[in-house]
Amino acid sequence: MTQNDSGRSGNSPVGAEASSPGAGSAAPTLPHSQLRSSGGTPNALRNDCPQPVSGNSFHEMWRELLPIGRHADSHGYRRFAWTGADLDCRAWFKEQAEARGLVYEVDRNGNQWAWLGDPAAGDAVVTGSHLDSVPDGGAFDGPLGVVSSFAALDELRGRGVDFTKPLAIVNFGDEEGARFGLACVGSRLAAGQLTVENAHRLTDGDGVSLPRAMEVAGYDPDTIGADPERLARIGAFVELHVEQGRALDLSGDRVGIASAIWPHGRWRFDFRGEANHAGTTRLVDRRDPMLAYAETVLAARREAQLAGAVATFGKISVEPNGVNAIPSLVRVWLDSRAEDQASLDAVVGGIEKAARDYAAAHGIDLDIVRESFTPVVEFDHALRDELGRILGKDTGITVPVLGTGAGHDAGILSGSIPTAMLFVRNPTGVSHSPAEFAAEDDCVAGVIALADVLEGLACT
Ligand code: GLV
Ligand code: MN
Ligand code: MN
Repeated sequence: MTQNDSGRSGNSPVGAEASSPGAGSAAPTLPHSQLRSSGGTPNALRNDCPQPVSGNSFHEMWRELLPIGRHADSHGYRRFAWTGADLDCRAWFKEQAEARGLVYEVDRNGNQWAWLGDPAAGDAVVTGSHLDSVPDGGAFDGPLGVVSSFAALDELRGRGVDFTKPLAIVNFGDEEGARFGLACVGSRLAAGQLTVENAHRLTDGDGVSLPRAMEVAGYDPDTIGADPERLARIGAFVELHVEQGRALDLSGDRVGIASAIWPHGRWRFDFRGEANHAGTTRLVDRRDPMLAYAETVLAARREAQLAGAVATFGKISVEPNGVNAIPSLVRVWLDSRAEDQASLDAVVGGIEKAARDYAAAHGIDLDIVRESFTPVVEFDHALRDELGRILGKDTGITVPVLGTGAGHDAGILSGSIPTAMLFVRNPTGVSHSPAEFAAEDDCVAGVIALADVLEGLACT
């Protein structure tokens, strides 16, 4: 089922001055498919290939997207699902699809698709990522994959290749889960990993439900649900993404291939105490939920360190939220991730036990709810090896294979179809922050690597 894209809002983008994050200005200088930095280790120039035509189209698209949803003060992106900034990004996607003569459609879950070739033919090669952001996110997490996908198609057209399989570019809706608290909503719905009932229960901070938000944005929420017919058309999905760590920087490689995603989840902790006067309530008479929470944060750090895992309390809501009032409620969200399930269970179990002990010691009621969970993802080995073979073919380079603690739509889809990921070097490793960065040449190297992969998968 296909929806019409009628949902563009009148909200205008903020922060329209495009100062520097990443590849926002000059034309690319990279001569070719350079997977490794020059100097030191073997240089992977493939001199037998034409110059990339995709560099200019990449930069043009990048410049267009840069101002959308960027906050004037923080310079971070606030492209939350179904808000004005997201709708502007979606309108941009549609324009890119139409400008290239691709068949544009929106699936029953609001994901956008741009097809070259017959969508119904089957065994399609699909690439893409997402355009939404975390609060004050960076420019690259998501958009780099979408922009690189269109640029890779331009590159392949410039090479004059013949496609033997349909090719599609996708923008998955609500990947970050910044608004409704659950990540990868578009791909989870499509893969049947989020039921319609549970999707209907999702609400944002203002109490607006996901269906209502879709409706306000001009999309039909009555169609949401598992989409096996659509997924059955896909033979392989490859998502390009900025690396969210420094492994490629340390190894001197511009591009890497994903091996696995750590299991991860989100838990909500409600610490309930008693509101009272900050000036007149004796310390011994208080039931202050902030104390139990503060001690739990320190316990989370200890547990994560012990297990070689990570645990983060990054979001907090306090009631009544007055400077001169002891809180009645401290509601916080734990994000925890580990290399394997046993370690994650140990970390979260340890944090929960500590939280209950501290709550009891301070006379606090505590509720803990697991809001989402994604098990470990091992990307399809055959596809991963194929990517390595394609990228190493003319260069002799062994492209590094990396695990990650970050979640992706490719991880969600890996349960339904063969999926793989390419990572582009991030010199600082910073992500989910306005400081997120990738160098121009590395972005273009990513485009060329993606084009090589798509050619290898869809043109043979
Ligand atoms: C998504 O970026 C996540 O890993 O939270
Ligand atoms: Mn992200
Ligand atoms: Mn992402």
